[in-house]
Amino acid sequence: MRKKVIAGNWKMNMNLHQSQKLVSEILNGLGKDSKADVIVCPPFTSLSEVNSLLKSTKIKLGAQNMYYEESGAYTAEISVDMLKSVGCEYVILGHSERRVIFNESDELINKKVKAALVKELKPIFCIGELLEQRESGETMIVITGQIEKGLEGITSDQMKNIIIAYEPVWAIGTGKTATPQQANEVHLFIRELVAKKFSPAVAENLIIQYGGSVKPENSGELLSQKDIDGALVGGACLKADSFLSIIASA
Ligand code: PGA
Repeated sequence: MRKKVIAGNWKMNMNLHQSQKLVSEILNGLGKDSKADVIVCPPFTSLSEVNSLLKSTKIKLGAQNMYYEESGAYTAEISVDMLKSVGCEYVILGHSERRVIFNESDELINKKVKAALVKELKPIFCIGELLEQRESGETMIVITGQIEKGLEGITSDQMKNIIIAYEPVWAIGTGKTATPQQANEVHLFIRELVAKKFSPAVAENLIIQYGGSVKPENSGELLSQKDIDGALVGGACLKADSFLSIIASA
């Protein structure tokens, strides 16, 4: 049985004070017997402080991006070591906002995935199709390409430290959610692809999160699907009560 993993992607929201408040509210509201694993991904400027607040709690810390080089003249970039030094265990890579707004290619994302894994930072590797790709029946082709290129050169052993987040781009921040059936169909496809590319055991243990307008009103049904193992939540993770309701529904 795979454990559900709920991650909150705060995106470019929350200054330091707001971050402290939000994480304190989440900690206060999270029951001791929460079944799901919880990850919060604040902006870089809040990581260190949020890490202090999360010490000796069950909530894990993640970053929203990183660069693959170890150090050097890469103005404004953040390395794996820097993230680990402020307590990050996870890093979101290949988010559609990075792909679309910042032109990140599959090749760049692959370098980041590899660099994270070498230093035992766990990627939440995001994939998903655009609306026009879904409408022209290309969803599975797009997903296959993103997995083939993004996970190129990754070993079966390393796959134990990767979470895949399926996020149809048309559902992100739009209020349109994939139906549980639409989402599960793609999740099953991803699992089968991973079984072929790596092994059935890797696929069986792989956490595949769904992301795209997940909210308390739809999370229970999405998370009850057989191949949906968690959620990557954007907008609804910015308020403690809605994030806590999503966690409780897992
Ligand atoms: P959303 O974002 O929940 O606001 O749609 C999800 C994401 O981008 O990870």
